[in-house]
Amino acid sequence: MRELIKIFDTTLRDGEQSPGATMNVAEKVRIAQQLEKLNVDVIEAGFPIASEGDFEAVKAIARMVQRPQVVALARTTRNDIKRAWEAVRFAKYPRLHTFIATSDIHLKYKLRKTRQEVLDDAIKAVAFAKSLCEDVEFSAEDATRSDIEFLSAVIEGTIQAGATTINIPDTVGYAIPSEFGDLIGTIRQRVKGIEKVTLSVHCHNDLGLAVANSISAIQNGVRQVECTINGIGERAGNTSLEEVVMAIRTRKDLLQFQTRVLPKHIFSTSRLVSKITGMVVQPNKAIVGTNAFAHESGIHQDGVLKEKLTYEIMTPESVGIPKTSLILGKLSGRHAFRERLKDLGYRLSEADLEVAFARFKQLADKKREIYDEDIESIVVEEILRMPRRFKLVYLNVVSGNVTVPTATVQIEVDGQLMQEAGFGDGPVDATFKTIKKITRTKSKLLQFSINAITSGTEAQGEVTVKLEERGHTVIGQGADTDVIVASAKAYINALNKMEFKKQKLVGM
Ligand code: KIV
Ligand code: ZN
Repeated sequence: MRELIKIFDTTLRDGEQSPGATMNVAEKVRIAQQLEKLNVDVIEAGFPIASEGDFEAVKAIARMVQRPQVVALARTTRNDIKRAWEAVRFAKYPRLHTFIATSDIHLKYKLRKTRQEVLDDAIKAVAFAKSLCEDVEFSAEDATRSDIEFLSAVIEGTIQAGATTINIPDTVGYAIPSEFGDLIGTIRQRVKGIEKVTLSVHCHNDLGLAVANSISAIQNGVRQVECTINGIGERAGNTSLEEVVMAIRTRKDLLQFQTRVLPKHIFSTSRLVSKITGMVVQPNKAIVGTNAFAHESGIHQDGVLKEKLTYEIMTPESVGIPKTSLILGKLSGRHAFRERLKDLGYRLSEADLEVAFARFKQLADKKREIYDEDIESIVVEEILRMPRRFKLVYLNVVSGNVTVPTATVQIEVDGQLMQEAGFGDGPVDATFKTIKKITRTKSKLLQFSINAITSGTEAQGEVTVKLEERGHTVIGQGADTDVIVASAKAYINALNKMEFKKQKLVGM
């Protein structure tokens, strides 16, 4: 019998810490539903003390999720832990996760505390969390740059105080696999009581080694891996869930372990997270990138045609990549549309279905063939994206080689219709300047990119924009067969996210 590796997903907490990847409550709830379907063991739903939005999201997810454990993160203060408990307490299987840094660098410059003070804080926090919740996880932040004597003392103390999971984070993505495996081995040897708890790791990808480090940790006795969909997260991100799960599955000859994750839902989960966060998956990303199963060179194509095993170590179908995604057209009815949505993992209410279907019909009038990707972007734009401060109502752009590009825009701002016209260096510039005028926003455009969602000249254009305001960034996305409309939608989506972020961050 293979030993179980618990998959702890932190897309909604560490993943949301990716620059720009702010999510609202409805978006987080939708991702949590998908994670449950993917069959992860643990969902870290957020950091409730951080903002009202985080608190509400954790609470909603705790009430909704049935099988996975739901975790709320807290620093070691009583207020943090109380707030986390208030948010997560109604989960079927709640867990409190508290953390404090243990490296001298963090103690000296960030916490300005002695080792004794940190040890006391950690023990008190775990004991307090335990008085509220049976299941308590403790993380020694920056463990890989911590003194092993001190790290061991903190782990031992928190186990005695009642921790049920001990997490060893490589917070700054500094470790290399053999070293990290040795660290796990050393902790297992020297810490009293370590056999009573689940040992976990949480690796960052600053050196591109997060997955390798997690696998090495598993080989040295770790039984929970913390990871995110598409590897998103602080800076270079976290261990990618899909990579670690598929490595365990594909190399079962070497790795005598299993996870409960259902790989057939990996691809749709990856797409959903990318759509909602606006974080585009790089084409060569392992498992879920568009090129992950594409064979380009003649020699490779010839080999695969003769026998897939020549160049394929796993099949695209095993991770849920559809063979062909051409599905609906102008004549498709409501029933076919609903069934396709179900196959893609979306169960909409009757009212939401009506809205999505109306948008589908509009799109089908402009575009003969509707692909899964088109349907996903309809659901994300029309259903998941809650109406926020700004809503695009009307856009008319005049441009050409002998005209000054001009945009006329109508936007609902807090429910009130506003209109303006403006010029620019090109149609997108004119549109953005006019939107900025109407919304009276100050964000700076950092990045603008445009991609075709599917192939062909009638394909929808998917625009991604990145905005910055007072050091905070957000990413917005919009899709339409008209790329200027897609650009306006993306810009307004990003502005709405920035507004949401301002509410979340006091003092912004
Ligand atoms: O990277 C880290 O150390 C963390 C902890 C809060 C687990 O995210
Ligand atoms: Zn982290």
